[in-house]
Amino acid sequence: MTEPGTPVGDVAERATAGFRQRYGAEPAGRWAAPGRVNLIGEHTDYNDGFVLPFALPLRTVVAAAPQDGERWTVWSELADSPVEFGATEADQPGRVTGWAAYVAGVVWALRAAGHAVPGARLAIASDVPLGSGLSSSAAIEAAVLAALVELGGLNLPAERRPRLAQRAENDYVGAPTGIMDQSAAIRCREGHALFLDCRTESVEQIPFDLDAAGLAVLVIDSRAPHRHADGEYASRRKSCERAAELLGVPALRDVSPADLDAALTRLDDDEMRRRVRHVVTEDQRVLHTVALLRAGRIRDIGPLLTASHASMRDDFEITVPEIDTAVEAALAAGAHGARMTGGGFGGCVLALVEASSADAVARAVVEAYAERGFATPGTLTVLPSAGAT
Ligand code: ADP
Ligand code: GAL
Repeated sequence: MTEPGTPVGDVAERATAGFRQRYGAEPAGRWAAPGRVNLIGEHTDYNDGFVLPFALPLRTVVAAAPQDGERWTVWSELADSPVEFGATEADQPGRVTGWAAYVAGVVWALRAAGHAVPGARLAIASDVPLGSGLSSSAAIEAAVLAALVELGGLNLPAERRPRLAQRAENDYVGAPTGIMDQSAAIRCREGHALFLDCRTESVEQIPFDLDAAGLAVLVIDSRAPHRHADGEYASRRKSCERAAELLGVPALRDVSPADLDAALTRLDDDEMRRRVRHVVTEDQRVLHTVALLRAGRIRDIGPLLTASHASMRDDFEITVPEIDTAVEAALAAGAHGARMTGGGFGGCVLALVEASSADAVARAVVEAYAERGFATPGTLTVLPSAGAT
């Protein structure tokens, strides 16, 4: 799933080479964090619900070394020139803008939590495509966080890092996202999906051994332009919070499936009713998926994935024609299940397929796109990989 113009070669070597070239010195170390796909549980994280992401083999790598004073210099192979900022800029959300805000946001969040963040020079390389809904932003946050924590000898256990990285994104960058992406980038394990309770932040590593089952997850980058994604995401979130308020519960997670019908009759607005129905049923689909995976029944999760997609399309209304086309084509070509993954309005689709039919399913999606005149989608089969290292 390489974007046109993406640098080639090993990502860790690119980060090191970039560091040497920019700063004329050796990095003290390299820290990596992956992009993610979410197997199931969409728009449930900010409703205090359940999610089940897994980490991709695609990673963002930060090569870094300390520098004197409270100064940070950061370079990315995807940007023209390095960006430099000091404590004054880091302490004011919004002062550092553009891509470097993700780095400044991490410095800010650490400082706001009382940590003595060491000055540093950083060089960043990444194989995670940007803005494809695979969480390149959480990957850069998690990798930078790991680097600064280790360079500064800071006391910040892994389970407390996702919240901090999320604050960088919410409060410094200004995107009102939930806790899923940062948790995935930091806490996922190879061969497993991460079952996360977004209220308590407790996790269970759920074995997801696709290889042993002869299965594969095909990720299809819809290449659909993100249409108003930020505003629509924020409005979905607001609508869920308003519904919880009207129903007198702390979050939609607290509406049980048994109470759903009664809860819906208490809401006047049809659109809000559908938003609530998506969130409540989606939480149940996550729990059901986890139960099937615990029982080793991977193929049987297919219909839940497809039902999740229908709920996002019809009730939460966050899909676009390219995405629906990819799901329909994958299912018609024999996928066990398929759904959009991520925030919506573009981004990626995942399909659970027999490993032996992954290529045929990918071809079928490419053909369906060509028939409708859509830009050629990217396709890639992935295995659940490790979180930040
Ligand atoms: P996603 O997280 O789904 O990829 P977002 O739009 O939330 O999409 O975040 C993408 C943004 O994160 C990019 O536009 C860029 O500002 C920043 N970013 C992510 N990875 C890198 C990187 N390796 N170098 C520079 N900026 C990056
Ligand atoms: C992502 C967001 C996550 C989650 C997801 C939808 O874009 O970063 O926190 O809400 O959308 O499930």
